[in-house]
Amino acid sequence: MKTYYNPVEVLFGINSLKNISELAIKIASNKKILIVSDKNLLNILGISEKVHDYLEKDGFTVDIFEKDGNFSSIEIIDNGADLVRNKDYGLIIGIGGGSAMDTAKCMAILGKNPGSINLYLKEGKTLENYGIPLIEVPTTSGTGSEVTRWATVWDLGEKQKKYSLSDLKMYAKGAIVDPTLVKSLPKKMSVITGLDALSQAIEAYWSKNHNPISDIYALQSIPLIFSNLQKIFDNPSDVETRKNLAFGSLLSGLAFSNTKTTAVHSVSYPITLHFNVPHGLACALTLSQFLLFNSEKNVDNIDEAPERLKKISEAIGVDSPKKAAQMITELMKNLNLPTKLREVGIDKKGIELIIKEGFTPDRVKHNPRKLTEENLRDILQELL
Ligand SMILES: [Fe+2]
Repeated sequence: MKTYYNPVEVLFGINSLKNISELAIKIASNKKILIVSDKNLLNILGISEKVHDYLEKDGFTVDIFEKDGNFSSIEIIDNGADLVRNKDYGLIIGIGGGSAMDTAKCMAILGKNPGSINLYLKEGKTLENYGIPLIEVPTTSGTGSEVTRWATVWDLGEKQKKYSLSDLKMYAKGAIVDPTLVKSLPKKMSVITGLDALSQAIEAYWSKNHNPISDIYALQSIPLIFSNLQKIFDNPSDVETRKNLAFGSLLSGLAFSNTKTTAVHSVSYPITLHFNVPHGLACALTLSQFLLFNSEKNVDNIDEAPERLKKISEAIGVDSPKKAAQMITELMKNLNLPTKLREVGIDKKGIELIIKEGFTPDRVKHNPRKLTEENLRDILQELL
């Protein structure tokens, strides 16, 4: 039986951040709040004082934990977990892009579960308790982490590797999606994070793990994101476009929160880790080729896949996967983004590394068409 489950209370709208205290009053287990964010982000967004004001007027005390760098790493998360265990916070608020929200999500769950995150990632230890109540506030329109039950965790030690910690207990209690928080994001980051959301929505729709409710979110998300990426690039300060992208990203998150992603995301992780390509771009680089690959009639292909790939194409505004793939490539060129692997420093040797590390069984198994190493080599060589 197919089920859909997402318990996150979502506030969406311009200036919805003002309602943070109302949500905090409902959710927090005591008056001590920890905000988890990226270094200097609250100042850059000009919300540092506002957030204090909004919450302190209702008697909350607010501490801030700022993480350095672009990754939600094991080291940062373990340090953060020690902090929250010692201070008895009643609420954690993650404010930022995916890595800040994922750090907050891990700190919240580890606040009530003992030991290093390594135990849960690498030794199969079970998360037995619900975490500290959590509110997520995205400041990019892309990752959807505010409504998912998992967090990306990077081992940046000797054996560099990307992990995912996933559990139904990890859902945030609340999310605030306020498009005004995205307004100072540079336009390049806006389009790159938007492409992440587009990949997630497309993968949610073609995933073998899709369900009728995730389908509705995905099919609403795809055209909304696709039609607004060029607009945000041309006019980054347009509020309506920001709002549409923020909503499209939220819908994408709601879609893939119950399907997970597929081969495109799986292959993106080594591209990000070893070639320093931002996550959304690492996904978008292979999206067109996977559209073509997944749409081919094949014995491995599940019966409904060609029909679903056609629906995705229609959501993009064309009548075939071939044209949809062209549209995506064209859009990326118009956004001044690379469309070939060599443009981001990946050569034949790099492809072999990506093949070696790019199969996350949990993700690849949901690709609508079975993917072998040979298939992946063909796909990547086509993109050289
Ligand atoms: Fe993603």
